[in-house]
Amino acid sequence: MSPSAVPRARWGSVYRRGGVHDPALRHGYDMCRRATRSTGEIEYAVSLLLPPPLRLAVWALYGAVRAVDDLADTVGTETHGAAAGAGRVERLEAWIAAFDADLREGAGTDPVRLALIDTMLTWNLPPEFLHTLFEELRQDVHGRHFATWGEWRRYNGLVNTPLALRTGSLLLRAAGLPAEPEALAAAVPGTAAAWQTAVDAVYLTDALVDLADDLDRGHVPLPQEALDEAGVRRADLLERRGTPAYERMVRDLADRARNWFDRTPVPPVLHPAVGLALGAYSDLYRLRLATLARDPVALLHRRPALPRLARLRLLPPARARAALACGLYPFTVVRGSATASAPLPPGPALGPAEGSRPTAARRQPVTAPAPHPSGARPPEVPTRAMPRHVAIVMDGNGRWATARGLPRTDGHRAGADALIDVVHGALEIGLDYLSVYMFSTENWKRPADELHSLMYEIPQLLRRLLDDCRPLNVRLRWAGQRSRLPADVVDTLVEAEQTTRDCGGLTVTACVNYGGRAEITAAAAQLAHDAAAGRIDPAAVSEHAFARYLHVPELPDVDLLLRSGGERRTSNFLPWQATYAELLFLDTCWPDMDRRDLWRAIEQYAHRTRRYGTVPRTRTRPHDDLAGVPAP
Ligand code: IPE
Ligand code: IPE
Ligand code: MG
Repeated sequence: MSPSAVPRARWGSVYRRGGVHDPALRHGYDMCRRATRSTGEIEYAVSLLLPPPLRLAVWALYGAVRAVDDLADTVGTETHGAAAGAGRVERLEAWIAAFDADLREGAGTDPVRLALIDTMLTWNLPPEFLHTLFEELRQDVHGRHFATWGEWRRYNGLVNTPLALRTGSLLLRAAGLPAEPEALAAAVPGTAAAWQTAVDAVYLTDALVDLADDLDRGHVPLPQEALDEAGVRRADLLERRGTPAYERMVRDLADRARNWFDRTPVPPVLHPAVGLALGAYSDLYRLRLATLARDPVALLHRRPALPRLARLRLLPPARARAALACGLYPFTVVRGSATASAPLPPGPALGPAEGSRPTAARRQPVTAPAPHPSGARPPEVPTRAMPRHVAIVMDGNGRWATARGLPRTDGHRAGADALIDVVHGALEIGLDYLSVYMFSTENWKRPADELHSLMYEIPQLLRRLLDDCRPLNVRLRWAGQRSRLPADVVDTLVEAEQTTRDCGGLTVTACVNYGGRAEITAAAAQLAHDAAAGRIDPAAVSEHAFARYLHVPELPDVDLLLRSGGERRTSNFLPWQATYAELLFLDTCWPDMDRRDLWRAIEQYAHRTRRYGTVPRTRTRPHDDLAGVPAP
């Protein structure tokens, strides 16, 4: 039966056995499956030999990349030339940026991205892994030029071998052996070299198979040295002239790739179905090499298909053996995702449904926020340039008071007014999360009288916030430790969380007795406890799983971290959440701030270019569409 004739119900059972029940996610995986089937004849055939959870991972990784590649290839009106290249680059970069954003937020609407993110979380794959894949796509857009075999191998070693090692470690987990790619390479002497040789063999074969496509784009995917050795002129290749020298070169290269395959035995410690799949993979590649060496001239014009008869000799018996192996050695995936493997730590943290509330509900305050006394209105900031989470170090209360000849405590009281105004401004501009630093774990070092007054002012402020918040549909959260806090402060914080737990508007997180290191240490301690109790598999600890142990697990990454009072430091504030925050330091002391300062800060943020470790790729800046927003 050809893959396309397989009844649809069959995939339903694959998704069920792979642990994918959500219809939107299934749709995403199915799109990836179809992309794999239409572009990766061998990969698709081999995926069908794998246990369902691994099969889904192969579809998501291979299929998503192919789907993105297709998108970059076909969408738009340009068909060739530099404009086509630029269009591809822009579409690709837009997709990658959207993927990064979805991964950070653990959500999204694009089905292919959803499937890819689900695979990342399930298998605990680090984001760099995906970026290596994306880098490949970028290189495809521009075409790679290698002068020597050395350069060609170095590129494979840098980009493709790590991918192969990562995939290898994924397969090893099917045998119950958690192994990081680095450990895999280091475990057996010569393993790294063997992987590299296998990867070289695959990529050399693919370079020949994809020759016609590459020539269409004006690229020659082989090192110049290979052409020179064979006496083939680049111009002849681009003109698709099937000279005798060219035919000799293809046969020699096919021999070379075959030799490389012969030097890489299938690793012994594997789930039997995985061993079968890898065996079939290298058999099919050998078949591909034999096919292309038979008619090198045809390669100049089209991708060669595997001969049907040879496929039939190979695949159905392999499928029967794989089904038997899966029956004898059932394989269930331990989902590495936060939701499945890491239970919520005990404490005031609320359920995980937070992130999935519909935006419309979150944006609808019950009553409108009070306007600023000056009549100022919030600026128009395009949705995609808006920060989702602003965190504020409200500093400078003491200096504000001292400058006026007042006791420092008066500064803290005046700071409370500023916060109330900023919360109203946050609602007006449509912010989703506002976190405010009220008292740090280091602030216990202050004189007793100041501590005393702070422990009086903080619950007062919380009660004012609570009175204001409920009608405004603002939800209050607390991030911090209980230890040392007076009971009435803890009670007020807990009451504030409980009373507003159904409010779906802006979330204000009060960071009281908060310290970033303390938060991370407490998370690590709880995680270690759960691992020792067998509740979480140490191999499944991902960044996402770890974040479930933080004080407010569903708090998104901080986009903008603002500090008043003139100091240029973050003072142990939200280090986990703010690793990629844009920082803004204002000289104004906190009691002098109001909502207009928040709005101006958001406008400045909207003009920043965020990179997340990449380099700028496109000519346009992400927020260049902020027409009408004056540059600060
Ligand atoms: C921030 O203002 C409030 C708290 C730390 C509780 P400060 O009290 O630190 O004010 P300055 O920095 O001394 O002016
Ligand atoms: C940070 O301000 C803590 C709060 C605003 C609650 P600090 O005034 O305590 O910070 P440092 O001591 O200047 O770093
Ligand atoms: Mg201070």
